[in-house]
Amino acid sequence: MVTLLENPLRVGLQQDRVPEPQILVIFGASGDLTQRKLIPALYQMRRERRLPAQFTVVGVARREWSHDFFREHLREGVEQFGSGLGAEAIWEDFAKGIFYFPGDIDQQESYQKLKAFLSELDAQRGTLGNRVFYLSVAPKFFGEAVQQLGTAGMLPDPHKQRIVIEKPFGRDLGTAQALNYVVQNVCSEEQIYRIDHYLGKETVQNLMVFRFANAIFEPLWNRQFVDHIQITVAETVGLEGRAGYYETSGALRDMVQNHIMQLFCLIAMEPPSGLDADSIRNEKVKVLQATHLADLHDISFSAIRGQYTNGWMKGKAVPGYREEEGASPESTTPTYAALKLHIDNWRWKGVPIYMRTGKRMPRKLTEISIQYKEVPFLMFQSAAKQVSPNTLVLRIQPDEGISLRFEVKTPGNSLRTRSVDMDFRYDTAFGQPNTDAYSRLLVDCMLGDQTLFTRGDEVEASWRILTPLLSAWDAPAPPESIPLYEAGTWGPVEAELLLNRDGRNWRRL
Ligand code: BG6
Repeated sequence: MVTLLENPLRVGLQQDRVPEPQILVIFGASGDLTQRKLIPALYQMRRERRLPAQFTVVGVARREWSHDFFREHLREGVEQFGSGLGAEAIWEDFAKGIFYFPGDIDQQESYQKLKAFLSELDAQRGTLGNRVFYLSVAPKFFGEAVQQLGTAGMLPDPHKQRIVIEKPFGRDLGTAQALNYVVQNVCSEEQIYRIDHYLGKETVQNLMVFRFANAIFEPLWNRQFVDHIQITVAETVGLEGRAGYYETSGALRDMVQNHIMQLFCLIAMEPPSGLDADSIRNEKVKVLQATHLADLHDISFSAIRGQYTNGWMKGKAVPGYREEEGASPESTTPTYAALKLHIDNWRWKGVPIYMRTGKRMPRKLTEISIQYKEVPFLMFQSAAKQVSPNTLVLRIQPDEGISLRFEVKTPGNSLRTRSVDMDFRYDTAFGQPNTDAYSRLLVDCMLGDQTLFTRGDEVEASWRILTPLLSAWDAPAPPESIPLYEAGTWGPVEAELLLNRDGRNWRRL
C-alpha cells in the first residue's frame, strides 16, 4: 500500500486539513466577486465541514449596508450562483459569522476602526487574531490598501495575517515592479497571495502530476520530439457589462499575462526539486526568464490582436465590442490575442509555443496541445497523405480530460491509416471534477500554503515577456488598425497567418 509519506506528490497537492479559526476580511465586498464566487465557495466548504465553526467573514465597502442586508445579499448569491443553501440551520449558523463594515479604502481612520472591530470579533468568535485580507477592489487601490493596513499595524505576524491580491497585478512590468516594491515594504512575501483562479482548477493542478508522476511522457517532453505547442483559451462570453475594467485591460492583461502564462509555466518548466511552494515557483520563474516573443523586431510576426464585431452566437444576434454598453465606439481594445513565443533553453530551443485567447468564440474551451514531430521516414507511401503527427491534448475545461492521437491501420485489404484518440475523461473516471477553483485557493491561503499563488518575481517575469507587445498595442491608433473578427468565429484571419507562415495550422476545435 502506498502511504502519504511514500508518495510526496499526494502530500503537496492534496490538502484536506481544516484551517485555524479566522476572519476573512473582504475589501470591495459589495462587488460581484464576493456574491458570485467567494461566499458560494466558502458556504459550500462549510457544508462539507472544511471550515472551522468560528470562521468569520467581514465585508468592507463604502456603501452603508447593515449586517442583515449584507447577509441577505450573500444568501441570494449562494442560492443563485452556488450549489444551493441546503438545510436552513446551516445557513443560519454560517450567516451568524458574517458582518458588514462600511469604510473607505483610502482613509486611515476606517482601518483603525476596522482593527478595533476585528479585535472585538476575536473575543466574540474565538478567531485568535488570524486574518486573511482579500483585496477585491479596483487594482489602483491595491498598493494603497496594503500600505494603510501596514500603517494601522494590522499585519504584524506573517503566520497570522495574510493578504490576497486579485489580478491584474500591475499593468505592465514597470507598474508590477512598483506594486511589488510597495507591498514587499509593508509585509513579507510570505504574507502575499497573488491569486490566479486558474491555478485552483483541478485540471491545472493535474498538469504537474501528469508530467511528473508518469515515466512515459517526460522523456518525450522536449525539442527532440515536440514540434510545437498550442495553448487555447476560448470563451463564448462577450464583455458581460465589464467595460469599465475591460476597456483598460484587453485580452493580454485579462487572460494572457496571468492564466495562460500559468498554463505555459506548468507545461514548460523543469521538474522542481520538491513540492514546496518555492521549489515550484523557482522553476516557473526560470522558464519565464528564458522566454521571449518570437520576433522582437517585427511584432506582427510574434502576435496578432483582434476585436469582435457583431455576429451570431447559438442562433442569437450579439452586438460587436464597440456597441457593448460602456465600450468606446472607436475602441482598439483587443478581445482576441494570438502569440508566438520562443524559449531559449536546452529543453525547448526551436520549439514554438503558440497561444491564443478570445471572447465571443464559437465554443468555451481551454486546452493545451503538444504536437509531436512527424515520423522521420514514412514507409507506408500509400498512406503518406493521410498520416498526421501524434498529438497529446490536455483538456482543461470543459469536457476535462487527456487524449493522445495516433495512427492505426483501418481494417480492410488496402493499406489505409486513420488517426484515433486514446481518451481519458474525468467525468467517467471520477465523476464531474470540482470546478470551483476559489474554494481550493481560499483554503490554501488560510493554511499558509503559497504553492498555487504567484510570487512577486514570477509576476514580473511574465510581464517582462509581454511588455514589448503592450507598448505596441497600447499606443494610440486609429480604430481601423485592429483586425476584426465576427462574433461566433475563431478570430481574425491574420492569426491564421501566424502559424501558416511556419507551415502549421491552429487546431480545428
Ligand atoms: C477572468 C477574466 O479572470 O477569467 C474573465 O477576467 C474571464 O474575462 C474569466 O471570462 C475566465 O475564467 P474561466 O474560469 O471561466 O475560464
